Amino acid sequence: MSHPAVELDGIWKRFPGVIANAGASLTVRPGTVHAVLGENGAGKTTLMNCLAGVYRPDEGAVRVHGVEQRFSAPADAIAAGIGMVHQEFRLVDTFTVAENVVLGAAPRVVSQRAIAGEVADLAQRFGFEADPARPVWQLSMGERQRVEILKALWRNAQVLILDEPTAVLTPQEAVEFGNVLRRMVEDGRAVIFISHKLDEVTSFCDEATVLRWGETVAAGVAIADVDVTELAALMVGEVEAAPSPDRMTEPGDVAMSVKDLTVDDARGLVAVDDVSLEVRAGEIVGIAGVAGNGQRALTDAIAGLESPRTGAISVMGIDVSDAPPQKRFAAGLAYVPEDRLGVGLAPKLPVAENAVMRAYRTLRRGPLLSWRAAREYSEQIVERFEVKVGRMDLPLASLSGGNLQRLLLGRELTSGPDVIVASQPTRGLDVAGVRAIQRLLLEQRDGGTAVLMVSEDLDELLSLADRILVMVEGRIVGEFDAHSATRTEIGEAMMGAPS
Ligand SMILES: Nc1ncnc2c1ncn2[C@@H]1O[C@H](COP(=O)(O)OP(=O)(O)O)[C@@H](O)[C@H]1O
Ligand SMILES: [Mg+2]
Repeated sequence: MSHPAVELDGIWKRFPGVIANAGASLTVRPGTVHAVLGENGAGKTTLMNCLAGVYRPDEGAVRVHGVEQRFSAPADAIAAGIGMVHQEFRLVDTFTVAENVVLGAAPRVVSQRAIAGEVADLAQRFGFEADPARPVWQLSMGERQRVEILKALWRNAQVLILDEPTAVLTPQEAVEFGNVLRRMVEDGRAVIFISHKLDEVTSFCDEATVLRWGETVAAGVAIADVDVTELAALMVGEVEAAPSPDRMTEPGDVAMSVKDLTVDDARGLVAVDDVSLEVRAGEIVGIAGVAGNGQRALTDAIAGLESPRTGAISVMGIDVSDAPPQKRFAAGLAYVPEDRLGVGLAPKLPVAENAVMRAYRTLRRGPLLSWRAAREYSEQIVERFEVKVGRMDLPLASLSGGNLQRLLLGRELTSGPDVIVASQPTRGLDVAGVRAIQRLLLEQRDGGTAVLMVSEDLDELLSLADRILVMVEGRIVGEFDAHSATRTEIGEAMMGAPS
């Protein structure tokens, strides 16, 4: 009998204050696509980093094709035939596709032309297109991902680990990607496919292993035999039901409008291209799109953190086009940025100070902040939004992702905004966290707040939003009624198909 391609046996990995893997196991057979499923924070990436030589497990065994391995660096794992495509790509923007593919591999005495030819052949063999001569900065996220995969295949990876690869793809690209996966395992390679999307797992994968809280709760389940709802239950354990988006009120007057907005990015390229949109009181408008299509520049410009080249923005009838962020907040805007620790929260300051940051004015007694009022105010936020904190005077950075997000949303919502702009408000949270944030947003909507919400999760937008705008390369290319639109229609628009 042939050995499994990979056997991870009782892997433990601890970080300060967190056990990421608590005796997790995984067995992957050659010639199969094996799904590793689990909620955010379940320990999937850490387990794969233990296999790819990024981390050394505290305990447990790693065997590759039957041979026990103790990798001390990624290079050791690569030499043993393990290739990993990380969630954040590690490419050199100014190099071409071919240069990136061969970068760091053992040098050989052949011409650039010959290498480019080999890279193109390799791509073709696995059924995807890649122009070896194009510089990486010109590529979409999907194309960059292919370069990362080629890089691993070029090093002759026999086990290919793909960490949430479809997160940067449109639904249609994800389907094509499934075909590429099937082709990769035809000649005996093994692919480990990390995802939390069950439909992808059932259509691309042969077997699945489910992680929860760092443990393996189901191992090597044959997809053909399994009930999908069972897998879902294994993944999330017990959770409360999704909030019902049924509305109590009809949308009212326009609360925020953006007109002919154009924003350049740091390189002087157009990030937002002549965008106009309106959000009404009591309405949730969703912005759908693959990451990196200008969503961030749009929300940053609305919040006043980015200066547009042209265009007008108004909040509750007040023109704030040239106003600094504080004036926009005073006009009724609240902003939940994508980068929570960048502009939203200050990681080194205590939890309490982060909580009161937006209320300094109201909490002032004369020239000084009233500390007693500030403490009461921040304790209210923590209680009402169920932020789990040890002590209010600890630095903010001690909170987990879900609690950071609750604190940030809590702080913004407590300011009683008329308009909320929220960028990826549920990204990176576990199911309970996602549900809590979604419920808060629906409550705000029912209370008459206008919500503009950017999300890469189409299902989330379809269930929460009233209208969905699709953003591609900085432009709004389609508008859909979220109650009647289908995933396919929106997916096509996300790919840039005319709607
Ligand atoms: N380098 C690290 N330092 C500290 N904690 C970490 C580190 N990497 C992951 N963790 C923590 O370990 C847990 C598992 O994370 P991860 O393996 O990334 O999960 P998943 O990929 O399933 O979302 C999380 O609580 C995460 O915050
Ligand atoms: Mg991960």
